[in-house]
Amino acid sequence: MKKHDLIVIGAGPGGYVAAIRAAQLGLDVACIESESALGGTCVRVGCIPSKALLEASERYHEAAHTLKDFGVNVSGVELDLPKMLERKTKVVDALTGGVAFLFKKNKITRYLGHGRVVGPGRVNVEGSAPEELSAKHVLIATGSSVAPLRGVELDGDRVGTSTEALAYAEVPKHLVVIGAGYIGLELGSVWNRLGAKVTVLEYLERILPGMDSDIAEEAERIFTRQGIEFKLGSKVTAAKTEGDSVRVSIEGQPDIVCDRVLVSVGRVPNTTGLGLDTVGIELDPRGRVPIDDHFRTYVEGFYAIGDVVRGPMLAHKAEEEGVACVEHIVTGYGHVNYDAIPGVVYTHPEIASVGKTEDELKAQNVPYRKGTFPFLANGRARALAATEGRVKILAHQTTDRILGVHIIGARAGDLIAEAAAAIEFGATSEDIARTSHAHPTLAEAMKEAAFAVAGRAIHV
Ligand code: NAI
Repeated sequence: MKKHDLIVIGAGPGGYVAAIRAAQLGLDVACIESESALGGTCVRVGCIPSKALLEASERYHEAAHTLKDFGVNVSGVELDLPKMLERKTKVVDALTGGVAFLFKKNKITRYLGHGRVVGPGRVNVEGSAPEELSAKHVLIATGSSVAPLRGVELDGDRVGTSTEALAYAEVPKHLVVIGAGYIGLELGSVWNRLGAKVTVLEYLERILPGMDSDIAEEAERIFTRQGIEFKLGSKVTAAKTEGDSVRVSIEGQPDIVCDRVLVSVGRVPNTTGLGLDTVGIELDPRGRVPIDDHFRTYVEGFYAIGDVVRGPMLAHKAEEEGVACVEHIVTGYGHVNYDAIPGVVYTHPEIASVGKTEDELKAQNVPYRKGTFPFLANGRARALAATEGRVKILAHQTTDRILGVHIIGARAGDLIAEAAAAIEFGATSEDIARTSHAHPTLAEAMKEAAFAVAGRAIHV
């Protein structure tokens, strides 16, 4: 039996970051991962490859359609999809290799195989190189997998998940996306730009549930203009492959026949087959591991973070939790501020959000003031030809403390960092308004939206 101080099961953004931080704090750390490449869904088949493809498809679209507006004429623009996919793979390989390097640097012992809890402080590694491990602390960071959809059988080819949609060998003629959430919109955008007809079927009467509804409505208008077709209030009952095509059945509507289907109706925590029951860890009704404020399960020595616990399934949320969890184990302190976790949809334009939505403030009867500023009135956005969208700041009616910031527009994912820091520091909208923002930058739209909270934006 090999002894360590901490065993981390799962090397995704939650697990690998926790492992590195724990090693920095002086623990002898083991990390068990069933995939040969480290980094989890995010690095291997999620955030990173999708961003590589989003960037590439945007460059292609620009070259083919919009560079001429800048006075740059390009002729003979051709899509080289194999090259685009090869570049995506290189980006992923560099990053998974980077995590392996960081493990070595921090002297983390890596085990390849499936981790299974077999008793208090004991975890077995199953696979071609079985091991028996023990440690005082065990951290479950096994992430999530695609939620299944009744009537829709994933065949790993024509009817697939984001994993398949990141590697279609050719541009689909007609891609049907089930679910207008993060994944559906990001990957729907990629294939729309590369020339596919894209139809998004969404069960609810809106896209991006959970995001601020004003911003989601604007997003729907923009994506519709880009050529994506939305069918809201659509309940998919079946998707069946018929030779080279797929027939998608929707309750109360005619079938759609297409050549590819992307199922993106959410994700479910990976908590089965881990042996959690052997030590008495009971799951909640959604299959998640219940934890306290310090990521402790209700069984001594076992902790859980990331997609297997409550809260949004986001890589950076898992990272924060991983750090806070191991810091609490070692130092007795460790905290995550869930009011300051941004969410970003990497479409073009991007959509980013932090804190409360206007819908939530209304539902909770919180008195607020609102300031919005359109990118159309921002000089840099004009120069970039990125005038779609706006910044919306929600601040408390009496204290002026910033409660939520929602942005749709170019580089919204980068701009939201200022808002997250503002919320983290308990800033008011006046604090942002009185902060000098370099000119000409997109970030000035944040300053102007903050001025707008008090009804005194300069440029509108
Ligand atoms: P999601 O939860 O974002 O969206 C799923 C969508 O599917 C919802 O709009 C839901 O109403 C709809 N839906 C559910 N059942 C349906 C049905 N039967 N028919 C039609 N529509 C249905 O889930 P998604 O996009 O699969 O992403 C999974 C997770 O991965 C999310 O929690 C997300 O936070 C995370 N993620 C984050 C990204 C980012 O941070 N940029 C990118 C990709 C994923």
